[in-house]
Amino acid sequence: MTTIGIIGSGHVGQNIAKAAIANGYDVVLSNNQGPGSLAGVLKELGPHASAATPAEAAARGDFAVVAIPITAIDQVPVEPLEGKVVISTINYFPDRLGHVPEIDNGSTTAPGLLQAHLPKSRVVRAFSMIDAADMSADGHPEGDPKRRALALSGDDTEAKALVAHLYNQFGFDALDIGGLDESWRVDAGQKAFVTHQDLAQLKENVANAKRNSKPRT
Ligand SMILES: NC(=O)c1ccc[n+]([C@@H]2O[C@H](COP(=O)([O-])OP(=O)(O)OC[C@H]3O[C@@H](n4cnc5c(N)ncnc54)[C@H](OP(=O)(O)O)[C@@H]3O)[C@@H](O)[C@H]2O)c1
Repeated sequence: MTTIGIIGSGHVGQNIAKAAIANGYDVVLSNNQGPGSLAGVLKELGPHASAATPAEAAARGDFAVVAIPITAIDQVPVEPLEGKVVISTINYFPDRLGHVPEIDNGSTTAPGLLQAHLPKSRVVRAFSMIDAADMSADGHPEGDPKRRALALSGDDTEAKALVAHLYNQFGFDALDIGGLDESWRVDAGQKAFVTHQDLAQLKENVANAKRNSKPRT
């Protein structure tokens, strides 16, 4: 059984957990307030979910999902994630959570900040451009006209293959849009952000992205 360590168990963390369990994974959820605060969530998710501290979730996961506000990146445990694939769902909403000059001036990206914090992990940006509830409720089998495409980006080919497989299991087509330095193409404010699109439409939206489009808040 493959276990996913989930750091951040709000809207995104819980919906990824739900989809993961439906596809045969075990999940270890964690948040800021501590495992006791997740009792109700565990009850809903059933026996394949457990709760732990972020460091324990990171250690127990074969790979991890980080679904926290951008402002909490520096609190993500580093050592237990070394060598592992880490999926970043984090988005940048400067009007809500404050500006990051390095993102504003184009020298990094939201997942780039997490990769810098986790230099020995393999960060892939994924699930950042779809509403949380749809992650577990809007997947469709291959060939279904309702099937949506989602982007992924990262600097490690093997890590991206793992995420493409996960997208497929959850019912989404995967589009690899390049390294983390290309991930701005699906940021808030871009055409590809939170919209129903198939693979061809996603490719077009990604190709037509313009850097520094103002994020929608
Ligand atoms: N909501 C969406 O539809 C959506 C879609 C795609 C991407 N995103 C992005 O994904 C991320 C998560 O979004 P969300 O909507 O799930 O947020 P959320 O509902 O506010 O949940 C955030 C989670 O992060 C936890 N957290 C905060 N600081 C932490 C820390 N230092 N260590 C461990 N956990 C910590 C919170 O724990 P506590 O509850 O204990 O405070 C909470 O469980 C954000 O960056 C967001 O921009 C959101």
